[in-house]
Amino acid sequence: MLTMTPVAILYYNPFMSRFQIFSAAQIQSLRKGGAILRDCLKEVARQTVAGVTTGELDRIAEEFIRARGGVPAFLGYHDYPASLCVSVNAECVHGIPGERKIADGDIVSLDCGVIFDDLYTDACVSVLVGNVDPQVRKLAEATEQSLNAACKLVRAGIRVGDISACIQKTVEAAGFHCMHGLTGHGLGTTLHQFPDVPNQGEEGTGPILPPNTLIAIEPITSIGTEQIRQEDDGWTISSADNSPTAHFEHTVLVLQDGAEIIV
Ligand code: MF3
Ligand code: CO
Repeated sequence: MLTMTPVAILYYNPFMSRFQIFSAAQIQSLRKGGAILRDCLKEVARQTVAGVTTGELDRIAEEFIRARGGVPAFLGYHDYPASLCVSVNAECVHGIPGERKIADGDIVSLDCGVIFDDLYTDACVSVLVGNVDPQVRKLAEATEQSLNAACKLVRAGIRVGDISACIQKTVEAAGFHCMHGLTGHGLGTTLHQFPDVPNQGEEGTGPILPPNTLIAIEPITSIGTEQIRQEDDGWTISSADNSPTAHFEHTVLVLQDGAEIIV
């Protein structure tokens, strides 16, 4: 999600929240959608090899989701033209699939969403193709590690800023940058809803998470800069210095005593 004004609400009243709270039946549906998306990304990642086009990967994702009874969440979203975002190397998010061929040494982020029983899930993995530069491998590892560390923190009662600070610290300790203005988000009956979940921020700030709400946590990082550039296609966002980027995302259900990774 792209937002230029990350939210920082200091004295947040959970009883006045705009958080969506999910019922046990909705959580069952989210688990089913999450399973479709997890298997879809696994299959698309397996087919992300040198020579395949990004458009072919999109077709594989769409067919996979529909065959399992889901609906591609990104297709048509604000007129987005595909079911998958494929962002290669310096491209960090919202890359539109097309004729581009994946090459040996690429880092390829595969970002996808599923609607099942009218509920949204959203997830992303970055795939390393063949012989990748060691720094790029390190970037991918640090980014995935920051997502895992943030997910371990999640439980009802923490603040969004606790997640942001954890991601930022983990990524910067490895010598890399979180892209400015690109955030995670609440989701559920829509793809993007309250709250923003920034990848930069301060512990102890932001909205308090209630139990049974859903957030997408998605660190988006680069080797060289936190600055982004919008490409002319109106969708693709790249690192301003064209340095390689990475992106991992989970849809996470907040529970009283922890979290469930929905996908
Ligand atoms: N995970 C991406 C995000 O939250 C999904 C983008 S869907 C698109 O921004 F349709 F906007 F591309
Ligand atoms: Co997202």
